[in-house]
Amino acid sequence: MNKEAILEIYNFIHRGNNYVEFLCRLAQQMDAESIVELGTNIGTTTRQLAGACPGAIVYSIDFNTESQKHIQVEPTFRNIEFSVWDSVSASHEYKGAPIDLLFIDADHTLENTIGNYKAWLPLVRPGGIIVFDDLNLPGMEGVAPEIGEGLIRLDQLHHSGFGCIIKQ
Ligand SMILES: C[S@@+](CC[C@H](N)C(=O)[O-])C[C@H]1O[C@@H](n2cnc3c(N)ncnc32)[C@H](O)[C@@H]1O
Repeated sequence: MNKEAILEIYNFIHRGNNYVEFLCRLAQQMDAESIVELGTNIGTTTRQLAGACPGAIVYSIDFNTESQKHIQVEPTFRNIEFSVWDSVSASHEYKGAPIDLLFIDADHTLENTIGNYKAWLPLVRPGGIIVFDDLNLPGMEGVAPEIGEGLIRLDQLHHSGFGCIIKQ
């Protein structure tokens, strides 16, 4: 253990990993009925959102079939709809209501993030929110300029960068 390692832990806690709590509060305040998460992984955010917003359906998409078993652990949430799909292609299959909250957190590359943004944007209702995770990771530098001045930076919520945009 050295000073850098201690500061790294401090930074992680201090600057936060509070983005999940932020997403839950945001969804609650919007009375969100339709939430889409691109990138499920082990379902941490998926399950938190489903629990926080029992009146919403949380559509979560990941091309990794392993995510399914993480979604299904007890307690299970009936309001989660998980699909194994490529995140961009999944936009063509979406049959839910206009999206209140879209969380883009799949492949952290410029191509996939902007691909998701462009593919899913028409499915978000006017006034809906599009959230981006990991904006500061290497390879993601081009995302913010591509989105433009509507991007609201919320980097204190996640050490790897965070932000959102309101659909006009
Ligand atoms: C950072 S994790 C998601 C974390 C999750 N949103 C959370 O907050 O707990 C990214 C996930 O995106 C998935 N992924 C990456 N590229 C993808 C793609 N093109 N289509 C679907 N899923 C993808 C990966 O399999 C991985 O599970």
